[in-house]
This record gives sequence, C-alpha cells and structure tokens, in this order.
Amino acid sequence: MNKNDFNIEVEGMEFKELADGVKIPVLGIGTWKMGGGLRADRTQDKECMLAIKTAVRLGMTHIDTAELYGNGHAEELVGEAIKEFDREALFITTKVKWSNMRYKDVIEAAKRSLKRLKTNYIDLYLVHTPNRSIPIEETMKAMDYVAENELARFIGVSNFSVEQIEEAQQHAKNKIVANEIEYNLLVRDLGQHTKDMESKIIPYCQKKGILIIAYRPLAKGELAKPGIKLLDELAEKYGKTQAQIALNWLISKPNIVTIPKAVRIEHIKENLGAIGWRLSEEDMRRLDYGFPVKDAFYNL
Ligand SMILES: NC(=O)c1ccc[n+]([C@@H]2O[C@H](COP(=O)([O-])OP(=O)(O)OC[C@H]3O[C@@H](n4cnc5c(N)ncnc54)[C@H](OP(=O)(O)O)[C@@H]3O)[C@@H](O)[C@H]2O)c1
Repeated sequence: MNKNDFNIEVEGMEFKELADGVKIPVLGIGTWKMGGGLRADRTQDKECMLAIKTAVRLGMTHIDTAELYGNGHAEELVGEAIKEFDREALFITTKVKWSNMRYKDVIEAAKRSLKRLKTNYIDLYLVHTPNRSIPIEETMKAMDYVAENELARFIGVSNFSVEQIEEAQQHAKNKIVANEIEYNLLVRDLGQHTKDMESKIIPYCQKKGILIIAYRPLAKGELAKPGIKLLDELAEKYGKTQAQIALNWLISKPNIVTIPKAVRIEHIKENLGAIGWRLSEEDMRRLDYGFPVKDAFYNL
C-alpha cells in the first residue's frame, strides 16, 4: 500500500479547542487492549494496526495511548501505524505510568515513548494517574521539563480530582490543558479511578478551559448493546445506533472530546456516525437526568 492510499478524509470531522488555538477531533481512537493488556500480546498486531490506520484515514487523527498499554507495545503499534501519515496531521496523546512519577523517571519514560512511537514529539503528555507516594511537585517539574525541551507540545493529567489538578497546576509552569477521565452515560459521578466527574470535575474544567477527554465512552461496549430502554428508544427515533447516541451525547457537551477504542473496522465506521448531527435539547436532558446510571458498575 502506498502513502497516497492513506490520505486523511477529515471532511465532516468536528473539532474542539485544546489550547493556544490548537484543535483536536471530537472523536479520536483509544488503544487500551491493542497490543495486549498489561503485558504485550502480538497476536492481533495486524488487525490493530489496520484499525489505527483506518481510524486516522477517516479523520480520527487523535490517537490515545500510554506506556502502560501492552507494556509499551500499544505505542509500538501506533508508531508503525502512523508511518504512512504526515506527522503534523496527527495528534498523539500518551501517558507516563503511576510507577514512573519521579523526576528522572518521567523524563526517561517520555524518551522511551518517543522511541516506541518513532516520532520526535508527543502532542499531549499526561500523568496517567495520581500517585500519592510521590510529591506531585516533583512529577510536575518533570512534566515542565518535557514541555520545555519539546518532548511534548502540551502537558495534562488523567484521573485527577479538582483538588489534585489545582495542586498539580501550582507546581507546573506549563498549563495543564486536559484531564482524561472516565465519563459516559452509565458512569457519571463514580468511576473506577475518579468520583464527582459530572458534579465537580467537568464543571471545573469547563470553567478553567481544561479539555475533558472522556475515556470508556461506550462503557467498554455496554452502551453499544440494545437493552437500555431510553437508549433503544432514541436510537429508533434518530435512526442511529445505541453507540452513536451515547457518543453524540458526550461530544454535544462543551469542552468534551472522546476516544472510543475499536479494533473492528465496522465499529470505527459506526462510531464516526456519531458526528454531523445533534440530539435535541429535550433528548439531551432526558439522557442527562433520565438515564439508568450505574456509577461504579465495574465494581458491582
Ligand atoms: N486514562 C485512563 O486511565 C484510561 C482508562 C481507560 C481507558 N482509557 C482510554 O480510553 C479508550 C477507550 O476506553 P475503553 O477502550 O476502555 O472502552 P470503550 O471505548 O468504552 O469500549 C471499547 C469496547 O467497545 C467496543 N466497541 C467500540 N465501538 C463499538 C461499536 N460501535 N459497537 C459495538 N462495540 C463497540 C470495542 O470492540 P472492538 O475493539 O472489538 O471493536 C471494545 O470492546 C481506551 O482504549 C484508552 O485509550 C484511558
């Protein structure tokens, strides 16, 4: 396949501002479980690379990955998959893991990620999750180093509460431009790693201009299945699928973008059908207040 086969068809994609006039697509592609879970698994490499390439070609140019995913192998897959594309057309987010939050470790982890991604800069580098046993001041000083030495264009956090964002920002010269958190129709205020997403974190981030990157937008596929009455009703009413309704609800909210993961090409295409139209205000309200929320349902 030659490079021209992978022209990016951004027509129709919607964007939101991250910072400094830089905009990212409302739908990106997630990569957790591509290339393994906590360990590398190479058995589905071809399918995963094709999924990443297809997503990018169709305009999902934001790729979300992490050093944790597949113990680095997800980043390697991203690095292979993006070879075909103009680097500047892509927006790559990756994350430093919980156990690498010491000053030197953050910087070394960023450099290893760059090698695996085969690129000379990360677009957005995130602290994957708070680590209370290491002072956040130390971690954020290293995040500043990463930004100031152009290993990453932007820095941010993931799974941070309002208080944790405020504390982290106090110790960083560079603005925290994004907080990646669990948020979907089913999980609103009690996720696996955060609480008060809808009641506190999102309003705070909206006020401060910190972009929310909503992860697990389909509740790991639960929201793509029929069986939830209101979702089924709206899918029928709009002639959309349950997944498209769930994603549309998210991206219709100010300051929120999302990153559904899909290896299956038909899932990627279906998810793209979440853009280019809007739920009515009344139906947004019904989903806001009338949905059978199952906070922390992973723990049930
Ligand atoms: N920062 C963090 O701590 C954190 C935590 C979790 C996740 N994340 C990021 O967020 C991304 C998304 O979260 P996630 O992967 O956990 O969950 P998700 O995106 O809610 O769900 C992914 C699952 O849904 C399936 N799926 C996707 N589109 C579908 C469709 N249209 N119809 C039916 N099924 C569909 C996928 O199947 P196939 O793959 O078979 O197509 C996969 O099994 C991750 O990949 C990762 O990049 C970040």
